[in-house]
Amino acid sequence: MRMPKGVAAAATFATALALATALGVAACAEADRSGETLLTARELPERRELPERFGFGSEASADRIAMWDIDVGPEGVGLPPGSGSVAEGRTVYDLQCLACHGPTGTEGPNDPLVGPPPGDDWPQSRAAGHYWPYATTLFDYIGRAMPQLTPGTLSSDETYAVIAYILHLNGLLEEDAVLDAEALAAIEMPARDRFVPDDRRGGPEIRQ
Ligand code: HEC
Repeated sequence: MRMPKGVAAAATFATALALATALGVAACAEADRSGETLLTARELPERRELPERFGFGSEASADRIAMWDIDVGPEGVGLPPGSGSVAEGRTVYDLQCLACHGPTGTEGPNDPLVGPPPGDDWPQSRAAGHYWPYATTLFDYIGRAMPQLTPGTLSSDETYAVIAYILHLNGLLEEDAVLDAEALAAIEMPARDRFVPDDRRGGPEIRQ
């Protein structure tokens, strides 16, 4: 019998598949008969000793952990060494931030960074300079999230500098100011006392 090539190939494949399936079934049946029980996926972890290590991944070295360990607490714990001036910060800002936050930090298109001092109808603005209670949060936030398209690329010096410039634009630092860990942690932000500690605990009690 003459068959078109494709049909012949398909037929051969189907035969091979049927044979393989039959052999597989036979092998399983064989295993069953020999007293070896087949485990379901659910039984597996309970029935088998798990190894202490799975043998993949590699040890997280102190250097690699340090690359992720970038959080900065309100009191300045975690601030790295380094420093930057308002003048240096202006250069960083103009190159890396201005396009999204505007020439003076108020124009956008993204969040304003400069706002009016907190007044009676606070918060008139949620701009970082006048809404955030701790200046140290700027280091944590900018270090991990900005510039938005290339976060993590600023050096510590550039981060201190750009914060100095932002705080200067907010009227909170003199033009010749220089920031380092100690000076940043010492800044009293104008909205510091506008927040109360949230000491609620648990869930259901809050709703009562
Ligand atoms: C590509 C656009 C872009 C660039 C460039 C950029 N930002 Fe941002 N930035 C944003 C956006 C968008 C947000 C809001 C993000 C959000 O709310 O999740 C933001 C938020 C912020 C905030 C928090 C504002 C607030 O009040 O919540 C700060 C501070 C900030 N950026 C600083 C900077 C600094 C400093 C630079 C330059 C080193 C920079 N940004 C560069 C887009 C950008």
